Amino acid sequence: MGKLEGKVALITGGSSGIGFSTAQLFVAEGAKVVITGRNPENLKKAVDALGTARSIGVASDAADPASAEKAVAAAVEAFGGIDIVFANAGISGSTPLGGTDPSLFKNILDINIAGVFQAASPHLREGGSVILNGSVLAKAGSPGYAAYAASKGAVTSMARVLVSELAPRGIRVNTVVPGATKTPIWGDTAASDFSQKEAYLKRSIPLNRMGEPEELAQTVLFLASNDSSFVNGAEISVDGGSGSSPMGTPLHAQR
Ligand SMILES: NC(=O)c1ccc[n+]([C@@H]2O[C@H](COP(=O)([O-])OP(=O)(O)OC[C@H]3O[C@@H](n4cnc5c(N)ncnc54)[C@H](OP(=O)(O)O)[C@@H]3O)[C@@H](O)[C@H]2O)c1
Repeated sequence: MGKLEGKVALITGGSSGIGFSTAQLFVAEGAKVVITGRNPENLKKAVDALGTARSIGVASDAADPASAEKAVAAAVEAFGGIDIVFANAGISGSTPLGGTDPSLFKNILDINIAGVFQAASPHLREGGSVILNGSVLAKAGSPGYAAYAASKGAVTSMARVLVSELAPRGIRVNTVVPGATKTPIWGDTAASDFSQKEAYLKRSIPLNRMGEPEELAQTVLFLASNDSSFVNGAEISVDGGSGSSPMGTPLHAQR
């Protein structure tokens, strides 16, 4: 018997990367999943891969409250309610001081903060689990990423408030904090110039490699399932040590 038998999960940004890997694992563990994304073609491909008996895709923009609400309504209509929300949809973007279009800055905040807030739905059933997706870049001070860092810092702050608001209904709220993970957020991971990007990123990771989306999915499964029944308000880093031990990275090592 799977760890999520009989559960319904809403995964925003479930058509790609970490969200899609999580949807695959959730389905394998017995859940029904509702995935969102803006691009309908990518959603269809993802639902075909997940199987139409156990998944539906809803084209929805996390930045638009009405559109996000549509995804929740579709989940309730198709599967009767929601037990798990993985508020995962997010974008990155370069926003250097002095060279940033304010609309880009705002868009990153709208998707990564307001979209996450919107996804942590009041329609969740009692005893449910909400998992937010943060980032090591919230604290890394990486130049050029002010909007993204601010948005992910906001996610972890917001999680603490949601813990307090949802605990009376037995709903747990936790945050997964990924380090650099091999997904399309970094561009085409199969392209020839990706290895250069990867080599650069690995220098800041003690385990000397990027994470795989499946490794994030396993942690999200832990937080979604009863295995974490007393874990509430946690931030779990899945980053190869990059957030905790920067001095242990290849950049500093005498290797
Ligand atoms: N990969 C990493 O290194 C890394 C590290 C730390 C944190 N994260 C976080 O992990 C999450 C997932 O990223 P990923 O790496 O898996 O990236 P990804 O492969 O680019 O996937 C992002 C997903 O979010 C969806 N999405 C983006 N904007 C959306 C919007 N406005 N409304 C609805 N869906 C939207 C995308 O679909 P559409 O484009 O079709 O909308 C896609 O399904 C993000 O929150 C990201 O910040 C990633």
